[in-house]
Amino acid sequence: MSVNDLGVIAVIGGTGSEGSGFALRWARAGLDVVIGSRMAEKGQRVAAELSERLDGVTIRGADNLSAAAQADVVVLSVPYESQEANLAGIAEALPGKLLVTVVAPLLGEKKGRYKPAPGGSAAMEAQAQLGDDVRVVAAFQNVGAHHLADFDHEFDCDVLVCGNRKADREIAVALAGAAGMRGVHAGALQNAAVAEGLTAVLISINAIYKTRSAGIRITGLPQ
Ligand SMILES: NC(=O)c1ccc[n+]([C@@H]2O[C@H](COP(=O)([O-])OP(=O)(O)OC[C@H]3O[C@@H](n4cnc5c(N)ncnc54)[C@H](OP(=O)(O)O)[C@@H]3O)[C@@H](O)[C@H]2O)c1
Repeated sequence: MSVNDLGVIAVIGGTGSEGSGFALRWARAGLDVVIGSRMAEKGQRVAAELSERLDGVTIRGADNLSAAAQADVVVLSVPYESQEANLAGIAEALPGKLLVTVVAPLLGEKKGRYKPAPGGSAAMEAQAQLGDDVRVVAAFQNVGAHHLADFDHEFDCDVLVCGNRKADREIAVALAGAAGMRGVHAGALQNAAVAEGLTAVLISINAIYKTRSAGIRITGLPQ
């Protein structure tokens, strides 16, 4: 799948460190990107700041609902605690679309100790909230924000993509490729709990090894 097939990508919470980093990488790869914020003015301001980093490429900014409404693919990049409220705010724009969630719940007292989301995973909770008219895929939970805005940094990691339909996972795999990473089909949305749990594991590894770039790599795949 080519990036030209992906259409408009909206990043909800694209003013934050994770979402803005992916917005930058995707726009740089030629994707049409709009970032959303709870406040339109903030979305526009941050989008203008991000665009300054790009040579002749513009990232647009909007309120979250407007961003979702103009998108073909909606990426959710907000803190888990605010997931439900943010989804409620954009739900009317989502039927028929693909929602790629990067949300990783960090519920324990210590972020490096995994505690599952009550609904099985943040991704399963999103799917339950949005219903069957919205296709939810989980991806990017194991990619730290630290190096995303550094275009010289080559990511030595894989992106687990969990979702119930192969065609939907292919879109997230293409998004991973556009960001300079390898996307790996990792099965049904139910498996997102594992990817979300790995985020806590990676936070612990980062702390123990005093780094900020621990990631995962799947071995044994055909070339
Ligand atoms: N940071 C990482 O290294 C990393 C790695 C893997 C996964 N993730 C996941 O990616 C998601 C985003 O991470 P992040 O580090 O970018 O988060 P963040 O900077 O704390 O928040 C991202 C954006 O969420 C929006 N937001 C909406 N409701 C909010 C609320 N009640 N409180 C605070 N912000 C709210 C804010 O945008 P507006 O104010 O403009 O609405 C904010 O800029 C999280 O679910 C995280 O678990 C992050």
